[in-house]
Amino acid sequence: MSSSATVVADPLARIGRINPEHYSHFIEHLGECVYDGIWVGPHSPIPNTDGIRQFTIDALKAVGPAVFRWPGGCFADHYHWRDGIGDPASRPRTRNIFWGGTESNRFGTHEFIGFCRKIDAIPYICGNVGTGSPQEMMDWLEYCNGDSDLTIVDQRRANGEAAPLGIKYWGVGNENWGCGGNMRPQEYAAKYRNYVTYLARMNLGVQLIAVGHDAAWNRELLRALAGARFLPRLQALSIHRYFSLERQAFNYDESEYHDLIADAHVLEDDIAQADGILKNYEDPTNPVGLIVDEWGLWDRGRATPESGLRQANCLRDAVVAATCLNIFTARADRVTMTNIAQTINVLQCLIETRGPDAWLTPTYHVYQFYREHVGHDSLTTHVNSQPLAVQNRPGRPVSQLSASTSLSEDGSQVSFAITNRHYSESVECTLRLPEKTLGDAAARLLAGDQAMSANSASSPDAVAPTDLAVRSTNDALTIQLPPHSIAILTAGVG
Ligand code: AHR
Repeated sequence: MSSSATVVADPLARIGRINPEHYSHFIEHLGECVYDGIWVGPHSPIPNTDGIRQFTIDALKAVGPAVFRWPGGCFADHYHWRDGIGDPASRPRTRNIFWGGTESNRFGTHEFIGFCRKIDAIPYICGNVGTGSPQEMMDWLEYCNGDSDLTIVDQRRANGEAAPLGIKYWGVGNENWGCGGNMRPQEYAAKYRNYVTYLARMNLGVQLIAVGHDAAWNRELLRALAGARFLPRLQALSIHRYFSLERQAFNYDESEYHDLIADAHVLEDDIAQADGILKNYEDPTNPVGLIVDEWGLWDRGRATPESGLRQANCLRDAVVAATCLNIFTARADRVTMTNIAQTINVLQCLIETRGPDAWLTPTYHVYQFYREHVGHDSLTTHVNSQPLAVQNRPGRPVSQLSASTSLSEDGSQVSFAITNRHYSESVECTLRLPEKTLGDAAARLLAGDQAMSANSASSPDAVAPTDLAVRSTNDALTIQLPPHSIAILTAGVG
């Protein structure tokens, strides 16, 4: 079956600039994300540059500049950065409390920076509030970004980095309402004030990111910071969202698939909730950035600490990723960064490795598609398509199509990202920018026989982009989208 749909974007309704930060990543010392996925070591038979797996370097470079958040996650709140610098042979072996096993500390600050440089990425360090101290985080910041004659800065120079590392993003803890110390919002607010008193005074040009959570936490946190006249020092608030906790990648029918797509829309509610609370407290001339620095599908049945949070990744997940990136793009007025969890081998990843084998997941290709939006302004986009039959959002229809649109600053280039989220029906989709003509269009499609189509070591290109035909008719462009597919279309605007 096939239906028809329209996507109309308003060229005069620019929402906000889409920066590389918008489509970013998260890597943690967990399972085989860092060790094996990224770090194989300089003496490994697996091709590498300075110990970093070559496949990973090449693949991540091709999705374009973005932020990488490290070293956790839950790991961050018991990570002591000094364990990961200096002579590798002398680094201590420590316990990975949450994810099990021994942490070799072979991948530390310098290896992380080396990894980011190789892929033109922007580093984001998450500091330790759970078991650390303001002094420990100040020392880490000084070590990385300092440029004076302090002993700690000389130590960095002696370790091979003469110039300051210029790390802009620093998280003040991770999920301190849970694995980061099980704090109450007032307790975290006190910790945050304590840390930021010192970190901000160092004047090293950083953005400090506070830990947010649900509405109750965010309200209490902001109230406590406002009461202490600390709000002007709140630059960014982070929230996390994992969804579809009980659903497994290869075990679902049409109705479960549609419910799962609908689950992703909880992110709209999360962003609206945080936005509303921030508006109540912030200085409107100095708005607080909202960062969704962990999000994605988590198949709890398979992705357990014992399995290193590995789960199967299929085309369905790419449809969910496109849905989420469209949600983030539509809120470029508030959302300043998002980081999928986690880039390699963990949860909804972009790359999988098994020993010497490595391949790209369908979600990877979505990130490649959304490069077309970066540097443009997000536009208000109206989708008119039939609703999906979903059970889990009564009274709140979820449409078959999800889309986002962006326009270059000079108005000469438009990009449409569109996903057909129906399990079994295709759709003919007409795209318009009112009062404008669209020409020189090119489009790519990510599709597969089934929503559960996946790549693997033996079939690495089972789900891979192909060219998509575009029909041009009376100032509109028309494309045909098969079920569970994603397209990116770029065109000149006249
Ligand atoms: O991404 C896995 C874990 O999920 C992270 O360590 C934690 O922050 C979140 O609960």
